[in-house]
Amino acid sequence: MEDLQSELAQVLVSEQQIRDQVSEIAGQISSDYEGVDNLYIVGILKGAFIFLADLARELRIPHSVDFMAVSSYGKKGATSGEVRLVMDLREPVTDKHVLIVEDIIDTGQTLTYLLKTLKGRRPASLKTCVLVRKDRKSLDVAIDYLGFVIPDVWVVGYGLDYLDRYRTLPFIAELDRRVYDVPA
Ligand code: PRP
Repeated sequence: MEDLQSELAQVLVSEQQIRDQVSEIAGQISSDYEGVDNLYIVGILKGAFIFLADLARELRIPHSVDFMAVSSYGKKGATSGEVRLVMDLREPVTDKHVLIVEDIIDTGQTLTYLLKTLKGRRPASLKTCVLVRKDRKSLDVAIDYLGFVIPDVWVVGYGLDYLDRYRTLPFIAELDRRVYDVPA
């Protein structure tokens, strides 16, 4: 991480922009779920952990936090679309008001899988909250709360990684091509 400047191409979403948007979304969720006795927030690991932590602490409604982890095959080629459940929730979500929190939508495969899986468990309601969506052709998946639309480039920071690095950067940046386009 020493030579971070040369590894990042440009900052796409600044720390301040993220902070403002997280507050905005938290306010919207708090008013939409006003009167609901408990909102069940489902963070998708690993990427969503930072967004979820900031978002949940700004909510003004009663809520619980749980996590799921999934992994996708063929993701880099973005064609095969097989998603696998790696870690499930601690509790059943039947009759609960569930909000899925994701850091990013790329192909849309992960969120499509999650919606199908959780819908099958018959929650009282099911919505989605996503910090960034890539501006590219993706599956038609419903996003109820969206932070930013970003260009279709490799992004890191605020939960997003490259080979598990850069997740704790406070902003979202485009990774320099030279980092991942290593000649064979
Ligand atoms: C990222 C992100 C989403 C998924 C979105 O997870 O957190 O879960 O990709 O991509 P999709 O729209 O093409 O399905 P990743 O597989 O990188 O795992 P991680 O969260 O553990 O980094």
